[in-house]
Amino acid sequence: MENAIKQPGVKALILCNPSNPCGKVFNKKELNIIAELSIRYDIFVITDEVYEHIVYEPNEHIYMAALTGMRERTITCSSLSKTYSITGWRLGYVIADKKITERVKKVHDFLTVGAAAPLMEAAVTGLEFEDDYYLELQEHYTHMRNLFLNGLDNIGLVTTKPQGTYYVLMDISEFGYSDDLEFCEELIKKVGVAAVPGSGFFKEDVRNLVRFHFAKKDETLIAALDRLSDINKKMKI
Ligand SMILES: Cc1ncc(COP(=O)(O)O)c(C=O)c1O
Repeated sequence: MENAIKQPGVKALILCNPSNPCGKVFNKKELNIIAELSIRYDIFVITDEVYEHIVYEPNEHIYMAALTGMRERTITCSSLSKTYSITGWRLGYVIADKKITERVKKVHDFLTVGAAAPLMEAAVTGLEFEDDYYLELQEHYTHMRNLFLNGLDNIGLVTTKPQGTYYVLMDISEFGYSDDLEFCEELIKKVGVAAVPGSGFFKEDVRNLVRFHFAKKDETLIAALDRLSDINKKMKI
């Protein structure tokens, strides 16, 4: 990471925490390494923290801007879509030093002008929820994660355990496909479950991962697991 940061012209590092697609939640030690490097090489850290409230114990979300010396060099981006289950409303926000937000406002004005006023009014209701809302949210997502991951484990599928977010990556190496998109198309046709090809998330040529999304009702997750139970028979080539 240091080699990349010290290249001439580098102005900022983008950090997605908790991370989509792998569900990684960066711990304090890891965040401190990034913070120290950003101070040493005088760069900004632009964070995407839209899954800040979907984190599984014992992991916890630590805000980059809260670390010593990072408040003035962190541009914190977040969204209301995951926390309040309003995906598609496209309501988000940036928290940064005043001189940075002045620039952000200019870009925002030219790109979108503003979010739809009725949606902003409605979102205020969510922003006023008490702490118990966030605890229930965490419990609910923990339940869905455990249900789906235990099911995938019982089938014998190779997955990474997400520490946050509502995604799980599955390693498809054992199925014999060289292309993850083709795997996903076949999975829909032969098994009846949709996944997202992992290659879309990587700069490198990674084609052995697909992403499932488990923010679903119990009966939907159980039906998906039921369909996936004979995946080996249907998908191996
Ligand atoms: C990491 C990450 N950032 C941003 C977004 C977009 O958020 P919004 O719904 O506010 O457009 C998503 C949505 O999937 C996401 O996964």
